[in-house]
Amino acid sequence: MMQTTIIFLLAAATVNAASQCTSPRLSVQGADTIVLRDYANGLRDGAPFITYEHGVAWRALEMVYHATRDEAYVDHITKSVNNIVTEEGGLLDYNLTYYTLDDVRIGETLIYLNKNTGEAKYKGAADLLRSQLQTNPRNPEGGFWHRSTYPNQMWLDGLYMVSPFYAHHTAVYVPKNITAFDDITKQFELTHTNCVNHNVSQTGLLKHGYDSSHVAVWADAATGESPECWDRALGWYVIAIVDVLDYLPKSHPGFAILKSILAETMAGIVKAVDNDSKLWWLVMSQPGRAKNYIESSGSAMFIYAALKGIRNGYLAEDYLPTMTCAYEALVEKSVSEASDGGINWNGTVSVGSLSGTGDFDYYVSVALNQNDLKGLGPFIMASVEYEKAVC
Ligand SMILES: *[C@@H]1O[C@H](CO)[C@@H](O)[C@H](O)[C@H]1NC(C)=O
Ligand SMILES: *[C@@H]1O[C@H](CO)[C@@H](O)[C@H](O)[C@H]1NC(C)=O
Ligand SMILES: *[C@@H]1O[C@H](CO)[C@@H](O)[C@H](O)[C@H]1NC(C)=O
Ligand SMILES: *[C@@H]1O[C@H](CO)[C@@H](O)[C@H](O)[C@H]1NC(C)=O
Ligand SMILES: *[C@@H]1O[C@H](CO)[C@@H](O)[C@H](O)[C@H]1NC(C)=O
Repeated sequence: MMQTTIIFLLAAATVNAASQCTSPRLSVQGADTIVLRDYANGLRDGAPFITYEHGVAWRALEMVYHATRDEAYVDHITKSVNNIVTEEGGLLDYNLTYYTLDDVRIGETLIYLNKNTGEAKYKGAADLLRSQLQTNPRNPEGGFWHRSTYPNQMWLDGLYMVSPFYAHHTAVYVPKNITAFDDITKQFELTHTNCVNHNVSQTGLLKHGYDSSHVAVWADAATGESPECWDRALGWYVIAIVDVLDYLPKSHPGFAILKSILAETMAGIVKAVDNDSKLWWLVMSQPGRAKNYIESSGSAMFIYAALKGIRNGYLAEDYLPTMTCAYEALVEKSVSEASDGGINWNGTVSVGSLSGTGDFDYYVSVALNQNDLKGLGPFIMASVEYEKAVC
């Protein structure tokens, strides 16, 4: 009896994917949820706080602002960023020599605000993050260390944390700097070459990371690669490519290189879709294994990157049915209406790191989070693209 009641309530709260083109659209409901609950406000326990998770949410709000021109989204971004940027153009809660690529993710929003408001403080803060890249430690091949505490390691996540900002900053402030565009291209090539999954049934999927010194506990002794393909890491990677392509000059050789990496990777992603759920496994290298599950943030990222890639002509239209179908399945599975008028977002794994063993048991042991911005943000981005493609 109790069981029946619970199932009924959940079913009633489920959002119907078939209505995604009616107002209010899910991109708007997602963005309104961030504003309503004051998520991604640049603070933690009342103190200034730099985190890439807020940077991801700000990018999502920026996209919904462009679709709706509702100033509430830019107001929320500005208010939140002002909690970490000083009037002199510095950043609170930032330690450049910790050399964490994650912090650089907020940089795109600083450029955005500088372009929008003309205020120099945002450029000052963006330049500070850009200066980190000048001295950030690199492995012998020239790849950025993921963090000072992870020597010689490149993680796919880092490509999203740095590259769109690096390309955006170059395009806006130093557009003739070909060396920077070469460097950005090289970061993708290094990860693409060194994170190859050798299972031929999974061509195109990349391992989470590699250690060029082959000494990390998880590193393959011969190749340095980590053992598994983690959905969110690959998700960051493909988002990084479609966003970098907005800034890379078409005449630069990197443009064709990145397009080709995107095509190969997306072919692997499309092939890996689970035919029952229409979505993707957390540990993509071990589909269907006990304890593995369908994870929402990685799925949202693949949909966003694919739909944007198709819209911009980087990918063939063939993937459209898989991706729109995946989006609708994701809405059914992960989105519900909340009593405060916002939505709740489910099914996002809270973390996946190469700080430990990096093996299957590790990834499936990590807890899920509700309303995790690493999932909700990309879901909003995917919604914006879905609505452009379908509505
Ligand atoms: C910044 O990070 C470096 C490297 O981890 C550390 O040695 C230093 O103490 C940190 N500085 C501050 C102010 O926390
Ligand atoms: C161009 O980019 C390279 C690589 O990031 C950097 O070392 C150099 O200082 C940049 N030049 C200018 C003028 O910003
Ligand atoms: C290789 O990939 C296939 C398809 O994803 C999978 O079913 C199989 O378990 C993989 N093999 C190994 C050894 O991981
Ligand atoms: C999913 O379905 C497609 C089309 O029917 C098929 O080619 C593919 O092998 C299936 N994938 C899996 C993992 O079963
Ligand atoms: C979403 O997650 C929360 C917290 O984990 C859980 O209580 C709730 O039942 C889930 N909702 C749906 C619709 O799955």
